[in-house]
Amino acid sequence: MRERRPLVTLKSALTLDGKIAAPDDNTGWITSDQARLHVQTLRHHTDAILTGIGTVLSDDCLLTDRSGADRSRPLLRIVVDSQLRISPHSNMVETCSDDVLVATTSAASPERRAALERKGVEVVVLDGPDGRTSLRAVVELLASRNYLSLMIEAGSKVNWAALESGVVDKIFFYYAPKILGGTQSLPVAGGIGRRRRSDALVFRDVKLHPISSDEFAVEAWMLRQPR
Ligand SMILES: NC(=O)c1ccc[n+]([C@@H]2O[C@H](COP(=O)([O-])OP(=O)(O)OC[C@H]3O[C@@H](n4cnc5c(N)ncnc54)[C@H](OP(=O)(O)O)[C@@H]3O)[C@@H](O)[C@H]2O)c1
Repeated sequence: MRERRPLVTLKSALTLDGKIAAPDDNTGWITSDQARLHVQTLRHHTDAILTGIGTVLSDDCLLTDRSGADRSRPLLRIVVDSQLRISPHSNMVETCSDDVLVATTSAASPERRAALERKGVEVVVLDGPDGRTSLRAVVELLASRNYLSLMIEAGSKVNWAALESGVVDKIFFYYAPKILGGTQSLPVAGGIGRRRRSDALVFRDVKLHPISSDEFAVEAWMLRQPR
């Protein structure tokens, strides 16, 4: 509220070696029922949730608040999708009830835009670097609409882009007692990353949350803002 922008939390479910997806069969969950129940409480306390088109295409996710508790305002579900690749028949679009926003670029096809709008999806053009949707502009848009919090639940690419762009205030990482290994399973934050140890993003006020007998979550605040 002081900074007049939403608090942005990057949430992810990870193996102990920091992987979020397996290269071949990615069905099933990384973390336990208990951890996923905990995620629902985080979703319940957030005003908006954001993912990337990569996650929508691979998981056909809903990103709804399934906590069962009453909400003071509907959870806004946001997809960053520069080319409007999202299908009008995806679960997100099919369940849209004035609560789905797709943030795209001016390169997106007007026909695809019209098809989504006919289903009640709000489509906004927010051009960013490299021909992709600007995550900063998404956060500014939410600020202008008085949204107080945003949770990012995305794949490797959007996670890194969000961290690098400086929009992330804190992380909430759920760790499962598993290791996927390999170089093809996706890390929590992909992209180019930082090339020097001394340039690593640094976090402060690290808190451990026990989730079950062998699972925990790490909550931490971003210390160093990206270059
Ligand atoms: N374990 C977990 O917690 C978790 C959570 C979510 C997803 N996942 C897994 O992650 C995998 C998908 O990862 P992903 O990296 O392919 O997908 P992603 O990060 O969800 O989406 C990536 C896509 O978003 C679009 N995009 C729009 N604006 C962007 C920007 N500013 N920066 C970067 N990308 C932007 C790009 O496509 P365009 O250029 O076409 O716009 C990009 O290819 C799936 O296997 C899913 O299961 C795991």
